[in-house]
Amino acid sequence: MDILVGVLNGSAIVLVALFGGALFRWRAARWLRWSGAVLALGQLGVAGYLWSLDWRFAADVVLVAVPPLAAAVVLAPPARDLAPWRRGAAGFGALLHGYAIVSPPAPPYLPDAGRMLVGLAVGVGLAWLWQHKASGRAGRGVRIALGGTAVAALVAAGLVASAASRVPAEASMTDHGVLDYGGGDAGGAEHDGHHAGVDISTLTGPADRTPDRRFALDARAARVTLASGERVDAWTFNGTLPGPELRVRQGELVEVTLTNADVPAGVTVHWHGVNVPNAEDGVAGLTQDAVRPAGRHVYRFVAEQTGTFWYHSHQQSNDQVRRGLFGALVVEPRTAAAGTDLVVLAHAWSTSHDDRDGWTSALSVAAATPSTGTVRRQVTPGTRVRLRLVNADNEPRVHALAGAPFRVTAIDGNDVAGPTDLTGRALLVAGGGRYDVELTMPAGPVQLTLTRDTNGRGSPAVLLSPDGLGELRHAPPGDVLDPAAYGSPTDLPYGADSAFDRTFTLLLGETIGFYNGRPGQWTTINGGVYPDTPVLAVAQGDLVKVTILNRGFEDHPMHLHGHHMLVLSRDGRAATGSPWWTDTLNVAPGERYEVAFRADNPGLWMDHCHNLEHAAEGMTTHLMYLGYHTPHRVGPDTGNQPE
Ligand code: C2O
Ligand code: CU
Repeated sequence: MDILVGVLNGSAIVLVALFGGALFRWRAARWLRWSGAVLALGQLGVAGYLWSLDWRFAADVVLVAVPPLAAAVVLAPPARDLAPWRRGAAGFGALLHGYAIVSPPAPPYLPDAGRMLVGLAVGVGLAWLWQHKASGRAGRGVRIALGGTAVAALVAAGLVASAASRVPAEASMTDHGVLDYGGGDAGGAEHDGHHAGVDISTLTGPADRTPDRRFALDARAARVTLASGERVDAWTFNGTLPGPELRVRQGELVEVTLTNADVPAGVTVHWHGVNVPNAEDGVAGLTQDAVRPAGRHVYRFVAEQTGTFWYHSHQQSNDQVRRGLFGALVVEPRTAAAGTDLVVLAHAWSTSHDDRDGWTSALSVAAATPSTGTVRRQVTPGTRVRLRLVNADNEPRVHALAGAPFRVTAIDGNDVAGPTDLTGRALLVAGGGRYDVELTMPAGPVQLTLTRDTNGRGSPAVLLSPDGLGELRHAPPGDVLDPAAYGSPTDLPYGADSAFDRTFTLLLGETIGFYNGRPGQWTTINGGVYPDTPVLAVAQGDLVKVTILNRGFEDHPMHLHGHHMLVLSRDGRAATGSPWWTDTLNVAPGERYEVAFRADNPGLWMDHCHNLEHAAEGMTTHLMYLGYHTPHRVGPDTGNQPE
């Protein structure tokens, strides 16, 4: 898919250049008809293939981008002395085509298709006018006037687009369009009433009981030296990278006091994967205000789900998570299993002698300072070992485990039913996702390796051995385990055949344009960037189905706060293994997932890409329970900036 989209984008840009060249009688004009035809046919081939995957991957190309290209081809027939107005009109058609390809529209397509036709008509008219009124000496004034108007119109359009793309200085985070859920009424009327109803600040954890566990997290800047020697200018919780590992037991009331020593933009703590009451969710501008330097905030929730989770700041999260404001959260069952239990946390750090070439991947074991090399641990043969893999990176990370058969016993904190032994299988953990892996320690070493380093160099690893020494040459990682076909099915509360109360479609992609006044490439949901992304509005108790399609060329680990999603199908094929419950689902280019969840945790919840860079580039929306509202505001003037 990434290649196909690349072909589309690349060929569209070349087509624009070719037709544009023709416009100026550039010599390449005579290459136009052949190369143009070949490229256009190639594009149609790509569109046809995309169509065979899913109509929604091709609809924008077929309905919006192809018509102006077809017009351009028709208007620029092979004749050598082509009328100038034809050349001009063809160039215009190609330009519109290129725009529609690099900035793909989303459903409904007809308004965009209509706009294309209007644009084309204007182009043809202008080109005709140019030829008939702007030729010869007499036409000089007209030429200047037309050219000037065109330049002015372009500049004005750019300024308007740039201004229109500004995020509001201050707004409620759920003030964006409500996505049609297929029920006929998009919930607009109910949405209008969103200032009435329940204030989500009231949806806190138990305030009156004495907590079973108390933790303190203090956000502060620190210069940290990784175990492998690299230096990181970090923002930390309690001065360490990663933050302290919080381990609690199921059923305990957990109280965490967050303070901020000196992180200027303020911080919050979000409990990623834990379905806490809404007011405890730690999203700046939605469930609380960012905690400024010298400020504090107390979180309280009952740890109801067992499993592997993590916590991180949800204020400027792209920056703050990257720089270290995160840690692991483990909820053990009431009676903890015997054996060795280690959290292995993956993250890519910007190290000071590395700034030129970006990020260095490192692993942290049991909250020890991360290392880009091999971390060794002594484990007695016969011991049950549980490795809790947490991917705190933006990119999906492939983990390879060699030296012993192993089982994946949980995904995103949800137990896998009937896990079977695996040997030589690689595990792809989504950005923000978690896998629990269990094995019995053999007599020899076992090695977990993080493959595919972001920079293609170094592979941080964890080596377990009876003497805490030794080497293991890691075999190249085998096929990636498919969670949709692993383990055994069990009874489910709902499935693909259930009657859904709401059905939503999220089409993920990329676009070129302005966002918050800046030109660039942005990541979109249904063609828009936040706040022009559609809200998923639900009523409490609704059974919700969401189809997520990735029409773009990057992985998008979609994370829904406060709920777990059950994967129903991928690319039209039903999931066959253990029920696959996830809170962070990696949707690769060209993939199409259907997921379901019960709206059973009222409030306002973020739903965003956990490549936090993408979240900051617009790939953010919300799940909104009708009848709930927040007193918190977001935007530059409020100091709250969750992405
Ligand atoms: Cu782990 Cu909204 O985030
Ligand atoms: Cu993404």
